[in-house]
Amino acid sequence: MKPLKVALLGCGVVGSQVIRLMHEQAGDLAARIGAPLELAGVAVRRLGRKRDIDVDPALLTTDAEALVARDDVDIVIEVIGGIEPARTLIVSALSRGKSVVTANKALLAEYGATLYEAARTGNGDLYSEASVAGAIPLLRPLRESLAGDHVKRVLGIVNGTTNYILDKMDTTGASFTDALEEAQTLGYAEADPTADVEGFDAAAKAAILAGLAFHSRVTAADVHREGITEITATDVASAKAMGCVVKLLAICARSDDGRSFGVRVHPAMIPRTHPLAGVREAYNAVFVEAESAGQLMFYGKGAGGAPTASAVLGDLVAVARNRLAGTRGPDESTYADLAVHPMGETVTRCHVALDVADKPGVLARVAELFAKHDVSIQTVRQEGHGDDAQLVIVTHRATDAALAATMEGLRELDIVRAVASVMRVEGDD
Ligand SMILES: NC(=O)c1ccc[n+]([C@@H]2O[C@H](COP(=O)([O-])OP(=O)(O)OC[C@H]3O[C@@H](n4cnc5c(N)ncnc54)[C@H](OP(=O)(O)O)[C@@H]3O)[C@@H](O)[C@H]2O)c1
Repeated sequence: MKPLKVALLGCGVVGSQVIRLMHEQAGDLAARIGAPLELAGVAVRRLGRKRDIDVDPALLTTDAEALVARDDVDIVIEVIGGIEPARTLIVSALSRGKSVVTANKALLAEYGATLYEAARTGNGDLYSEASVAGAIPLLRPLRESLAGDHVKRVLGIVNGTTNYILDKMDTTGASFTDALEEAQTLGYAEADPTADVEGFDAAAKAAILAGLAFHSRVTAADVHREGITEITATDVASAKAMGCVVKLLAICARSDDGRSFGVRVHPAMIPRTHPLAGVREAYNAVFVEAESAGQLMFYGKGAGGAPTASAVLGDLVAVARNRLAGTRGPDESTYADLAVHPMGETVTRCHVALDVADKPGVLARVAELFAKHDVSIQTVRQEGHGDDAQLVIVTHRATDAALAATMEGLRELDIVRAVASVMRVEGDD
């Protein structure tokens, strides 16, 4: 069989592992596809850079656009990252009728519509399994295996760096700063950790997951985002006392009437009995609730060269098979076109710890404030006495707007010395 020619854009952490796997598994890949794969070229930024693997120098080029434009290239793998030049290169490849495999969540969450349009026009495939949760098969199960079901909610730990930090805070009592420093030393966090700890990386993934789950177009701008930089050892201890653990969650949930959905990324307490609570260190997991399938959990390595390359290779085999069969895989599905509702309309529960004066009438005034905002209290517990008295309250489900107004009111009450900890509670309904 004539080989299918593959252009690789990027030869860093992921790209070098893609080359290794293409080489080591050449025979198996050819058998599975029905034709051999041949690396046509590898675009990089710096030709002379020392690489993790040996690459034939004749394959390396800094002219990615020329590589993509070559008539003999069938499939383009983009593992450069970021918006430009990745966007221009992918559109160029797709509009020339080539198929594209990418691991680029930031690009898909921002320009997904443009890219899928280019794939339709060029009659090629655009596959992106590696863009969310690295090695974990997740996008194809959502798009294909669950195509006959009705997804109600997706709850995910999709950022390994923040999960590592929160796990350290939970198991050792460390502060955020100390846990971040340890993550940086061990290579789990970048020198500039902003994209991870402020939730930008998870928000891009949440947008991709919500779009797939609810057959609607979602961009990163639709995602309500809060990071973990404000999480204190007190928050983590408070969660522990309640039998919970703090996780940074990406949550995509349909409204009760099914007409809209919310997409958000924020830290939340989840019960230690929830399957996501057992996701330790830098692992990822995504918990899907579908009408007929019920609860499903996808777990594994969300990053790393080889795990991510495994997902890229899976896509490579799929798009190669499609090309040989003269067909395309499933297109993006946005027919439902549901609206994304604002965060204020999202319904959630809340845990709040208040430092209060230990005197008669305090509880009544606090309860009155919750009632004023139509937030009902599920449990209340007092800890300590005198100057150390703390009220720990967990609410029933209420809109985020009502909960925010209640917290604002609490901060203004003269009997409340400090609002020591506020956090949403998820995963127990
Ligand atoms: N790393 C992970 O664990 C992981 C997990 C999931 C998804 N991803 C995604 O995979 C993609 C790649 O990540 P990575 O970690 O492999 O990145 P990386 O290690 O920084 O590698 C990026 C590669 O792109 C090349 N490059 C940069 N600008 C270029 C340009 N203008 N033209 C041609 N080549 C260019 C670089 O060339 P030089 O080598 O010459 O500098 C390098 O080889 C990103 O979209 C990322 O979000 C990564």
